Amino acid sequence: MNKLLLIDDEEDVRYSFQRIFDSPEVELATASSGEEGLKLIPKFKPDLVLMDVRMGGMNGLETLRKIRASDPKLLVILMTAYGTTQTAIEAMKLGAYDYLLKPFDAVKIKDLIANALKAARDMKQVVSYQPLLESEDYELGIVGRSEAMQQVFKLIGQVAASDATALITGESGTGKELAARAIYHHSNRSRQSFLAVNCAAIPEQLLESELFGHERGAFTGATNQRIGKFEQCDKGTIFLDEIGDMTPATQTKILRVLQSGTFERVGGNQPIQVDVRVIAATNKHLEQAVAAKQFREDLFYRVNVVRIPMPPLRERADDIPLLVNYFLEKIGREQGHAPKSVAASAIRLLEKYHWPGNVRELENALRRAHVMAKSDAILLSDLPPEISGQSPGATVAPTVGEGAVSDVSALARQLFQWAKRDPKLKVIPAVERELVIQALKETADNQVAAAKLLGITRATLRKRIEKFGIQRELSVK
Ligand SMILES: Nc1ncnc2c1ncn2[C@@H]1O[C@H](COP(=O)(O)OP(=O)(O)OP(=O)(O)O)[C@@H](O)[C@H]1O
Ligand SMILES: [Mg+2]
Repeated sequence: MNKLLLIDDEEDVRYSFQRIFDSPEVELATASSGEEGLKLIPKFKPDLVLMDVRMGGMNGLETLRKIRASDPKLLVILMTAYGTTQTAIEAMKLGAYDYLLKPFDAVKIKDLIANALKAARDMKQVVSYQPLLESEDYELGIVGRSEAMQQVFKLIGQVAASDATALITGESGTGKELAARAIYHHSNRSRQSFLAVNCAAIPEQLLESELFGHERGAFTGATNQRIGKFEQCDKGTIFLDEIGDMTPATQTKILRVLQSGTFERVGGNQPIQVDVRVIAATNKHLEQAVAAKQFREDLFYRVNVVRIPMPPLRERADDIPLLVNYFLEKIGREQGHAPKSVAASAIRLLEKYHWPGNVRELENALRRAHVMAKSDAILLSDLPPEISGQSPGATVAPTVGEGAVSDVSALARQLFQWAKRDPKLKVIPAVERELVIQALKETADNQVAAAKLLGITRATLRKRIEKFGIQRELSVK
């Protein structure tokens, strides 16, 4: 349940927000003045505050200043009318998370709020770096008792106590983001903001402006000044995720911030001074990127002050039973019932598997198995075929029903995960192409049978073969 507090002196606005957020996932409280809002905050404990700038009594900026002084981690989104963006910029400098322009666009509001809530969660959910399996509130720990994880916990503890830049490396899904949050939560800056920026997910041209902001007119489309994450996060911690994916220009700017704490907004020439702690992560081999001149060597040394290598899951198989318990407990809690158990034979198989997607893959596999399991125990046959080693043909559900549909949605979620990591992957064409190839293989290139299997006409199949350039022995039968 997410708690939103709306502070606005106009009843119409409060009413329309009540309509937009009439959902079981959101609890909305409203206040009609800054004073009232400030009184409500300690009682209601919102995850996010939405606030009008222009109000009778204490105005939005003053209220924001007070909120920031008493709780720098509480995120605030300001709402302002067109033409008063200068105030919005002021608000960002005071540490507002973002601002919304009136009149509102409901889709934009929802997106922005979803992002802000994720940032609020990152800051608030304490990630503990000790295995906490026995305790009551163990949900958010980094789980692991293996030698390799003990080493990780030690490093996290050491780097958290200092203000040094840390570089977390490791394969996808090994828990890099979790480790970054654990460092933050145990650092001296834990009462200040934590903002994560995924350098791979933001288009190159926008990343620099996201990090450092821009001046009005800095480039086509820059109609207003914008405050970047470094400025917003002053005194706090910034998490540069996928740091290996930055352009040389952005690398140069990051180097300068790390060396001197200064930068300029894109298109600006006034140096801005900030005090930000940087934690970086990457699944790339940065030494190789340096050798290939894709990553600045001087920047590499600057971020590599403390290196935390996250071990791949296959190298710490002794943690697998522990992780299985942890995730089943978590899934059980989410769904409001007792956790399912796992057959010993299934555990043995999980311990042997090579886990290319690491802990994330394990969690997904368990979620899927949870759906497949017909009783309160997960059996070998409930595990995904790539793990249980069954041929995919054997797992095609004989009855097309819930099972098959949930298989497909698990698959879709997996594909979206990949697509998020690899922007070049176009999900639908990629899947379509693969389906056509597999159908032709399955039917020994019999187009009639393949089309039937795919549920499309033969003419459509032919078009697809041509479109995707699938060259095969086409035996028409
Ligand atoms: N040791 C662990 N204990 C519990 N959960 C973990 C552990 N490691 C990872 N997870 C969970 O696995 C998922 C992936 O972790 P995370 O996002 O931190 O990985 P990552 O290394 O940043 O991956 P990517 O490179 O794909 O971004 C998350 O849901 C995280 O909570
Ligand atoms: Mg990550």
